[in-house]
Amino acid sequence: MASRAMITTGTHGTFGLGSSMPFPPGFNVKKPQLTPRKASEPEKRPSLISPIVDAGLGKTMPQGYKATVAQLGTFELPEQVTGGSRDRRLGKALVQAWRKDGIIQIAMNDTQKKLCDDAMAASRRFFKKPHSEKAACVDSQSYAGYIASGEEVTDGIADYSEIFTITKDLDASDPRVRARWPCHGPCPWPDVEMKDPMVRYSDILGAEGEKLLKLVELGLDVAPGSLTRYTRDGWHHTRVLRFPPRNATNGRGKEGRGIGSHTDYGLFVISAQDDVGALFIRRPSQNEAFANWRKSAAGFKEDADDWVYVPPAYGVHTVILGDMMQYLTRNYLRATPHKVGLNTRERFAFAYFHEPSFQAVLKPLETGCGGGLSKDNVSCSSQEEEEEEEEEEEGIHYGTHFTNMFMRNYPDRITTKRLLAEDRYSLLARPELRIMART
Ligand SMILES: [Fe+2]
Repeated sequence: MASRAMITTGTHGTFGLGSSMPFPPGFNVKKPQLTPRKASEPEKRPSLISPIVDAGLGKTMPQGYKATVAQLGTFELPEQVTGGSRDRRLGKALVQAWRKDGIIQIAMNDTQKKLCDDAMAASRRFFKKPHSEKAACVDSQSYAGYIASGEEVTDGIADYSEIFTITKDLDASDPRVRARWPCHGPCPWPDVEMKDPMVRYSDILGAEGEKLLKLVELGLDVAPGSLTRYTRDGWHHTRVLRFPPRNATNGRGKEGRGIGSHTDYGLFVISAQDDVGALFIRRPSQNEAFANWRKSAAGFKEDADDWVYVPPAYGVHTVILGDMMQYLTRNYLRATPHKVGLNTRERFAFAYFHEPSFQAVLKPLETGCGGGLSKDNVSCSSQEEEEEEEEEEEGIHYGTHFTNMFMRNYPDRITTKRLLAEDRYSLLARPELRIMART
């Protein structure tokens, strides 16, 4: 479902891609289905809309990068996942696409398109506000709210992204806020013009995420509920992102960049981007070893030239996988390393994180994929084996993993300071914060 061609940008850039070009090995290309469906035939829900063969896909890539250009086909998800054979086939196709390409593209329906457009307009309005108004949108208990350009640090280097993070919006009367659970608190909205479209868009992505998770269960041949049990009261959140245009003081490398190379911490991330383009990923078939929950993967292969550029396309979401999916599937589905450059124009994007509950303690799946998820299938060093055994005993507490990530990314934020000053971190070990352990 994807093809690729090498592109080099810069003063002597070269580019080659076209319908006559043979697709390189490793990319599964489905030709367009030209036979029209007869009115009497039952609908064959297409799992994949054929890729658009467009020689211009790479032209949006930011300057100074050498990367392969992904040409993704687009999956169409059913209205509902019922577990029938069509859903199962689709689930398997999604799993295989992630295993090969590290990213899938799914079509938005008309409602999603409208909500995405509304949210994009609200994002542009918000980021145009004066700095003082945006900077006031912080909360000392939750990590929700505004993150100024240069405030986020990935692997010791400033990210020039400007972000509004939306986490579970809990007021002071919520028992978890009263009990001072780490990261639990209100979302400091600037106004209702921002709040309403963002909540509507996030909610519809929550439904989409749950649908995808059910399809992953089918694709992995694991029992229904094996994954969705963890997302009851999921700690889903959304990041509204603006990237400034590249200029003399930002760009690639030590001077700062969009967002440095990293993996995301949850199950998967559903993203939308405008037409500017700057997202790069690494493919699982590159067979690289990392386990971000054990040792930070930030900065991983940051300056390598073998990244894959994901060109923007209107009316689609892309989905990459996170650390917890990698952990649950024992590396069968790996987290997707990604990074974001800066382009010649400012750029807007959304990243919705579909996450386990804050209280969930995750343990790897035991079965599935005809033995593909068994321990024997994963090669690792003896030290890693030891660490793995320890993890399996205890599992991974998602709330701790999330808190560690945010404390690491925002060491100077008021939220981190209060969390440490009030020793909220120690609460993460309490049994009431770990009620979702698998039995
Ligand atoms: Fe990310």
